Amino acid sequence: MTNTLDHWSRYWQTGHLTSLPEDFAAVYDGEIEAFWSGIAKELPEGAQVLDVCAGNGPVALLMARHAPQAQLWAADAAAIDPAPALAGHPDLADLAQRVTFLPGTPAESVDGLGQCFDLVTSQYGLEYTDWSDSARAIVAALKPAGRLALVAHVPTSAMVATMDAEQREYALLGQSGALPALRKLGETGTPAARKRLKRALLPLRSPSASSALIGSFVQGMGALLAMEPAQLAEQQPAIRQYAADLAAGRDRAADLLDTNRRILAQPRWFEAFVEAGLELVSETEILYQGRHRSGLGLVFRKP
Ligand SMILES: C[S@@+](CC[C@H](N)C(=O)[O-])C[C@H]1O[C@@H](n2cnc3c(N)ncnc32)[C@H](O)[C@@H]1O
Repeated sequence: MTNTLDHWSRYWQTGHLTSLPEDFAAVYDGEIEAFWSGIAKELPEGAQVLDVCAGNGPVALLMARHAPQAQLWAADAAAIDPAPALAGHPDLADLAQRVTFLPGTPAESVDGLGQCFDLVTSQYGLEYTDWSDSARAIVAALKPAGRLALVAHVPTSAMVATMDAEQREYALLGQSGALPALRKLGETGTPAARKRLKRALLPLRSPSASSALIGSFVQGMGALLAMEPAQLAEQQPAIRQYAADLAAGRDRAADLLDTNRRILAQPRWFEAFVEAGLELVSETEILYQGRHRSGLGLVFRKP
């Protein structure tokens, strides 16, 4: 696990609604939404529902849509901020008003919220936490007969190998010195900073370094270095932003890799919730659009 969640905070503060923006234009839909609407159907009137590791709340928003009477909270350890993402989705504004967002709230501490819940939900979330600590906290925060429902990552070794390769590309960017050189150029815009970036790009131009990530980076840097000084000066804020986004992308990818490695090493990781006192009620593979293995739907109940 990376030491801080700054990369997630940055991600949620820059307009993302889910952790898979390439696959979902808004909140989760299709079979994933169907899983959550099935969970919502069994809620008692006026139920209290907490989504953990919530990001900007796509699952809480789905629960708001499918459980019109429920009271909803969305908690995440990172500094989540749904406003920029929601600005692009006015159709979700009414649902979002029903959700209380709780930034800086680790799953391992939800027993301290002073509230007991009928349902705790999490999508691609609890697997990122300390499993036994979050299990203990969630069991304590559930009402008797309350449920925990998850959609969890199901990694394969091929997926982990791909993520591993991506990490090696990021490592190469780091070793070449290109990232700090880019940051410096964004801060100073001086000819010396330009030279430093040009030098750092040399090892990345070798055929052995070629990859989609490195290729598009080198191409982008080439365009930057070809700019006139005045144009480059104008671009400085955008350069700083790009360098920070790249570093955050690297840290997010490392987090994802680490989590998926942990799951691969212990595929029944979610038994931690059984050890903490819940019963495992159901376990279903979710196939998005009938074919993409998008997660494992798990439902637990507190006796
Ligand atoms: C892959 S994202 C999923 C977010 C959201 N559920 C979604 O589906 O878009 C994982 C989230 O877990 C959060 N997270 C990681 N460790 C956590 C912890 N110990 N407690 C609470 N949230 C945590 C991260 O900040 C991040 O927002």
